[in-house]
Amino acid sequence: MVLLDARDLVVRLGGRLVLEGASLMLEAGEVVGISGASGSGKSTFLRALALLTPLASGAIFLDGVDHEQLEPTAYRRAVGYVAQNAPMLGGTVANDLETGLVLAGKQLDRAGVARLLDEVGLAASFANRTGAELSVGERSRVALARALALEPSVLLVDEPTAPLDPTSATRVLELLKTRARGGLSVIVVTHVEAHLDVLDCRRLVCESGRIR
Ligand SMILES: Nc1ncnc2c1ncn2[C@@H]1O[C@H](COP(=O)(O)OP(=O)(O)OP(=O)(O)O)[C@@H](O)[C@H]1O
Ligand SMILES: [Mg+2]
Repeated sequence: MVLLDARDLVVRLGGRLVLEGASLMLEAGEVVGISGASGSGKSTFLRALALLTPLASGAIFLDGVDHEQLEPTAYRRAVGYVAQNAPMLGGTVANDLETGLVLAGKQLDRAGVARLLDEVGLAASFANRTGAELSVGERSRVALARALALEPSVLLVDEPTAPLDPTSATRVLELLKTRARGGLSVIVVTHVEAHLDVLDCRRLVCESGRIR
């Protein structure tokens, strides 16, 4: 079953054509890895799928429904996004993980925070730290945990392993695979070939604003 269907996405930024008709069909529970040269449009493609950059043309269907027929909040609840170098939102790590959930009228208890932190390879004691007290790689894993807390159907992750050592990177990639076995659909941008090997996923390449 196709969960996310992006058709011929065209994005212009600062007068430049950055996406020139990028398309991708993502099945439920599927992991897709996108690689490609720096500046080829990978992050822009994920941002377009996350509705964070306006489309000049093209269409995005979620579960067969044109996203324009959906409330933006409903789409964003279903489609999680973790930016390249995602910042913390403020306060402690526990506050950070709860942010999106509170907006959705849900709660996350201490055990829930600890479980999410453990999934991304961080000790429960990280819950009380602030963003300034984290390394770049720790912050990137908090951002991933924050997205997972919302239990999306689709997760878009931009270079999640870039700031991580090989062990932590493998742990994050294995986590994405485990979540996919549980039904989550994942698009991962990474240009590390070994990480695509760990993911054991369908591989696509972003080239000149198109996905091939
Ligand atoms: N706001 C903007 N205005 C103009 N051009 C932009 C803007 N944002 C990005 N670009 C350009 O769009 C192109 C694609 O950028 P994007 O960030 O999607 O690349 P990328 O494939 O993710 O690269 P990297 O691997 O370095 O992260 C680049 O040439 C970039 O310079
Ligand atoms: Mg990028």
